[in-house]
Amino acid sequence: MGLAEERVIRVLRPSVLVLCGPAACGKSTFAARHFRPTQVISSDSCRQLVCDDETDQRYHLQAFALVNFLVGQRLSINRLCVVDSTALTPGARKSLLDLGRKYRVPTELFLFDVAIEKCLERNLSRARSVEPKVIEEQYRLFKQAHEAIRSEGFDQVFELCEQDLQSVRLEVLYRPINPLSAGSNAESRCNSAVSSRVS
Ligand SMILES: Nc1ncnc2c1ncn2[C@@H]1O[C@H](COP(=O)(O)OP(=O)(O)OP(=O)(O)O)[C@@H](O)[C@H]1O
Ligand SMILES: [Mg+2]
Repeated sequence: MGLAEERVIRVLRPSVLVLCGPAACGKSTFAARHFRPTQVISSDSCRQLVCDDETDQRYHLQAFALVNFLVGQRLSINRLCVVDSTALTPGARKSLLDLGRKYRVPTELFLFDVAIEKCLERNLSRARSVEPKVIEEQYRLFKQAHEAIRSEGFDQVFELCEQDLQSVRLEVLYRPINPLSAGSNAESRCNSAVSSRVS
């Protein structure tokens, strides 16, 4: 692909970037490729932290309480948050939108528009695979999400196709923070425009 065709996505720090897609579509791989490990808040990692097993769905509530807690703590000190979970239900997306609003930062959605056949294929090729019917159900929810998200209030929605997963480039733009309000609560945070680019 030539430079002229390269897709560049610019995101702000601080902000909440919500990854959304069925199991095995490539969310964690994408997050690891484009962001620092500490910027990525993974529901699987949080589940593992609370109950020792990242696959144990019984502790969903505790795992997401930890996800939301970490997002809030990071936003309170103006850090970028990349939330790596399926985000397939309106409720899951709303809690992240609410945190973005509370801390007055943009909340942006990354939709992983990957064919179900690819998800099923990738699922089989990894160590931790799930039942194919789980992916089929999540893919159905993903199609519903695709319809619903336009009216949910995200500041931007980025649709990533298969090719984008390989070639898209991400730039993080630092938003200037009023030094008088830096480190204080969300209400006093300066909500001004985009600043210069950093690598
Ligand atoms: N762009 C890609 N091309 C080829 N293989 C990929 C790509 N992205 C991810 N994979 C492979 O697909 C499998 C699933 O990827 P990954 O774990 O990132 O999915 P996920 O969306 O995070 O799934 P889950 O929701 O279950 O955590 C992995 O084995 C990974 O190496
Ligand atoms: Mg993952």
